[in-house]
Amino acid sequence: MDCAFPVRLDISVSERLDDDRHDNIFLRTGFVTRMSPLELEYKSNPSSVISIGQVYIVIYKTIPSYLKNVTFFEMISSGYVISRRTTLLITMPAYTCTIICMKIGLGTNGKDMRAVWFENGEVKMIDQRELPHDLVIVGFGTHDEVALSIRNMTTRGAPSIGAAAAYGMCLAALNKHDLKDAAETLKDARPTANDLFYAVDHMSAELKRGADPVTAANAYAQMMVDKCIKMGEYGSTLIKDRDNVMTHCNAGALATVDHGTAIAPIRKAWADGKKIFVYVSETRPRLQGMQLTAWELLREGIPHAIIADGASGHFMRKGVNMVITGADRIVANGDFANKIGTYEKAVIAKELNIPFYVAAPVSTFDLNTKHGDDIHIEERPEEEVTMIGGVRIAPVGSVALNPSFDVTPAKYVTGFITEIGILKPTEIHKMR
Ligand code: MRU
Repeated sequence: MDCAFPVRLDISVSERLDDDRHDNIFLRTGFVTRMSPLELEYKSNPSSVISIGQVYIVIYKTIPSYLKNVTFFEMISSGYVISRRTTLLITMPAYTCTIICMKIGLGTNGKDMRAVWFENGEVKMIDQRELPHDLVIVGFGTHDEVALSIRNMTTRGAPSIGAAAAYGMCLAALNKHDLKDAAETLKDARPTANDLFYAVDHMSAELKRGADPVTAANAYAQMMVDKCIKMGEYGSTLIKDRDNVMTHCNAGALATVDHGTAIAPIRKAWADGKKIFVYVSETRPRLQGMQLTAWELLREGIPHAIIADGASGHFMRKGVNMVITGADRIVANGDFANKIGTYEKAVIAKELNIPFYVAAPVSTFDLNTKHGDDIHIEERPEEEVTMIGGVRIAPVGSVALNPSFDVTPAKYVTGFITEIGILKPTEIHKMR
């Protein structure tokens, strides 16, 4: 990559696209190779900079022919990513053109977009099903819609599911809906992630004591981010300069409102100047590793490679220094549920004496459940396995089994990275 230098952009929101049609919209992705001599000012955040070599994704809406060869439009920007829904106006000294883009920089500063938030009476969230190609923001005004967004994985990852549910309870209160009924609907959305139940119970208690719904839900989401930052601080002490770290699924900002659980130590280690490398297993069948974790690491500039799930053992033998995953539920004996494919990584790590860490907030611990075998494992539609990109790959007539999570016994866990410190499986009782 070339040296980096700042470019200022003049961007203001000009209009909303009111449909999802892709007519006249062109997706371009790539690296900045050359800077334009044009210098622009980005009004809403004057300190924003973009650099040569950073990744950009831009959707153009009807590129005027006279702009087709203008390099400037090919360098907007790390930090300025597309949404089909938001149109920004780029004003340049010579001419004006409308492109569709928006700023996102998960986990880097307080002004950046989060995975889930509340705005203008709606729960807003990044539609994670559209990433990495398209950054789509959706908004919901009822708890029923929020429950559906959790079920259909518009938002996913245990802490983000929890935050979405907290906002769902907030909407139920604002809409004067029966709170017990709303709590049931939200808890019913997915069965495995403990954060969902924790968040709904937390909000039910807050609302019962008369808390303002929006303030309470915002506080819940912020609490989650603060916990993630703490996990990053504790977890990064385990990572040495030039370590190779393996992770599975997405336990980054998208999964946790911001920052991440398993990805938090990686972010912090990288921010501290440690030259690390991350193996990202693709995570069949929903590909959260390839589509979400890789997207986040790319945006942060953290060196990484996507590997097929089945290649994990191969790379562990070659030199992985530690594995860090998230968790959906950790029970009293230290067994935990996480994305399908976690268990075999843990077994291989033990075989090769590679430390295996699980990063999760206290809200993921379910101390009322004694044993991993008692965790309810979600079964998802078989089409997630038999079809790829909407096309059936499996022979018609074959069935598929699709457990969304597996259970890893405590004996494979080196430690749990939490916001209160790093605990051995035998130390979980300290949380009570
Ligand atoms: O089915 P998903 O995508 O919600 O599963 C997510 C995971 O398994 C994550 O690893 C887990 O929720 C931890 S996220 C911080």
